[in-house]
Amino acid sequence: MKTIHVAPSLLSADKSKLLDEILEVERFGATYLHWDVMDGIFVPNVSYKVEDVKKYAKVHHMVNDVHIMVSDPEIEAQLFIKAGADLLTFHIEAVKSHEEASKLIDEIHKMGAKAGLSIKPMTSAESIFDLLPKLDLVLVMSVEPGFGGQKFMPMAVDKIKALRKEIDSKGYNCLIEVDGGINEETGKLCKEAGVDILVAGSYIFGHDKKERIDSLK
Ligand code: DX5
Ligand code: ZN
Repeated sequence: MKTIHVAPSLLSADKSKLLDEILEVERFGATYLHWDVMDGIFVPNVSYKVEDVKKYAKVHHMVNDVHIMVSDPEIEAQLFIKAGADLLTFHIEAVKSHEEASKLIDEIHKMGAKAGLSIKPMTSAESIFDLLPKLDLVLVMSVEPGFGGQKFMPMAVDKIKALRKEIDSKGYNCLIEVDGGINEETGKLCKEAGVDILVAGSYIFGHDKKERIDSLK
């Protein structure tokens, strides 16, 4: 069976002991560390800043998986890669056209990071098929972005299936990640649909992290 990666979302971590939270999830088998970045414009919430990523990017060996939910991804992408993002994921809904998305993917690669593209629940998987050849990852949002602790939207499962089919049949080198409302049960549905990386925030933090990470794998 293929490896399933778990990416704890720091949105639900205890910020007063962030270093311990990060080191714990790494010790318990997480291989990606999911940083949610929000600007209060693209989504009605604010979260991690460049300084946070800079401070903690090198204290662990997980992939710094930075998910930017912002209205000016071109500027923010650069700042977060400089701060230590290994994988930079922006939203297709935040750019004007697929041409712009394509340019930004090239920029991200030029800066030495992997490029991910995220789709909100109302955006179809098929609408970004044209960009798959250039992408390292597609992030399927299974909740409306903005807040942790929401309920999983089952339509994400069909999107993962459609992406898996397209990626495999064309031989692209692109991972599929899902984010929002992931727990043991919804994680299982996504794994069966062909996902590679499970993001989970409220399911992991504030609980027995080892037991929760193991249950997702
Ligand atoms: C939502 C974020 C998610 C969120 C996941 O906008 O992108 O990463 O923190 O949280 P849970 O796992 O609690 O749904
Ligand atoms: Zn996220």
